Amino acid sequence: MSWWETAVGYEVYLRSFADGDGDGVGDFAGLTGKLGYIASIGVDAVWVTPFYPSPQADFGYDVADYRDVDPVYGSLDDFDAFVGEAHRLGLKVVLDIVPNHSSSEHPFFKAALRGGPGSTYWDRYVWRDPAPGGGPPNNWLSIFGGPAWTYVPEHGKYYMHLFLPAQPDFNWASPKVREEFVDILRFWAARGADGFRVDVAHSLLEHPDYPDNPLSDELRPGAAPRHFGHLEHLYDLDQPGVPEIFREWRRAVGPDVYLVGEVYLGEPEKVRKYVTGGALHQSFFFGLNALEWDPPELGRRIRRAVEVVPAGWGWVQGSHDEHRAVTRYGGGPKGVQRSLALWTAMMGLPGTPFLYQGEELGLENGAVAAGNVLDPVGLRQPSEGRDPCRTPMPWTISGETHGFSDGAAPWLLSRRRPDHETVEFQEAAADSPLKSMRALLAARRETASGRVGPVRRLDAPEGVVAYARDGVAHLANLTDEPVEVEVEVEVEAAGAWVLAYATNGGRPADGAVRLADGAVRLGERSGVILRKAS
Ligand code: GLC
Repeated sequence: MSWWETAVGYEVYLRSFADGDGDGVGDFAGLTGKLGYIASIGVDAVWVTPFYPSPQADFGYDVADYRDVDPVYGSLDDFDAFVGEAHRLGLKVVLDIVPNHSSSEHPFFKAALRGGPGSTYWDRYVWRDPAPGGGPPNNWLSIFGGPAWTYVPEHGKYYMHLFLPAQPDFNWASPKVREEFVDILRFWAARGADGFRVDVAHSLLEHPDYPDNPLSDELRPGAAPRHFGHLEHLYDLDQPGVPEIFREWRRAVGPDVYLVGEVYLGEPEKVRKYVTGGALHQSFFFGLNALEWDPPELGRRIRRAVEVVPAGWGWVQGSHDEHRAVTRYGGGPKGVQRSLALWTAMMGLPGTPFLYQGEELGLENGAVAAGNVLDPVGLRQPSEGRDPCRTPMPWTISGETHGFSDGAAPWLLSRRRPDHETVEFQEAAADSPLKSMRALLAARRETASGRVGPVRRLDAPEGVVAYARDGVAHLANLTDEPVEVEVEVEVEAAGAWVLAYATNGGRPADGAVRLADGAVRLGERSGVILRKAS
């Protein structure tokens, strides 16, 4: 079995995790100092967001040099120290690779701009003539707003950018681009990376003719498309040649390097070709992220995903791109209970769960005042801004920055957190989301040997996720009412069920879970892991 098949990952948004040098920005020195904390949660791998030299127009997802560390995060030596310490603690390291686009400050793009059409680096990017009557070559839009094309008058051409104008798309039809990325992957694998998270993995190629995208049903008849959702993305996303690129990568870096993609395509059927046939190992499952709290629908989507590609998913509740799960799930103790119950459901599925930093604390969105917004998305479309999930980790109860930085103000200013959201408080409390998450991951580890078999669904009311795998059962009551679930004894080998883990749910501790003759009573918003007595 490969390590990622039994691992739990932890996403670190480097800028906001821990500041080691007092400049207000998280960095490798800070992260390395907190690896003991990460290991103590019980996770097995750390995914660290982009740290490469970058103008930070999209906070590092605009890379100017793929083989170095931005001075704000440290140096290559600091990177090596981080990897060394992670490995010493038994943690795998997953880096974030950004292949769809570079920064406009990347030397290739600067050389293309300087040299113009036909010059050496021109073809590394996507250039088109204006439309016959002038204007952009087609109706494509940027995910961050505005057209997907920027005009360069000097050369009379447009270049394409799925994101900001400062993030020109690479031309993946060019063999040179393909060679370049294989080399970049080898560079970091040789420095100790155990895997890569592939940014917008489904978007590397475009249709070679660059036709207009059809208008979507979201658009009012007669209106002009202004928003990414106003188009059907037939020609700019999910083109047939993309999975082959990842097959090439797998051949180049060998079977031990894990590849997990951000394949943001909605339907599991569309994602399948990216995570089968020797392409990526997994994609994150985003099917839950756009949802508010809808227990029956959550259950259906999880089931569907597992049916379509059983082991193809990185299970997530959020990331540095989404509003925090606890907030989306209603906030307060209720939001925390819902999130933990859902984690209990996710922790026994085939695939790899990934926590986003702070989810183990049940963190809600950080509060960023309108005048302090920095995210390029938030500046363009305030309701979709990503700053609230990117505010610094609250380590200590006291201190201006909750121990994130002991020097300057943090790069992203936000309101103070309540005491109970800090690591310090939760470590000291008898019962806290952090302690529940540790117990959940310990129970998962203890029952891990039973997780090779297929998932067998157990009968349960709507809104309850219930399944068994090789003598381990996961039951999660996502609803706001207590429920009873019969665990079918005849399907499992005879013998008593033993409670390996229970979230305390929304009820007083005494009545949260009762177990008798295979019938389990679950409090509202609670989950359990059961295993067969040996
Ligand atoms: C991905 C990243 C996001 C970034 C975008 C452009 O969606 O997760 O943070 O802005 O790609 O690289």
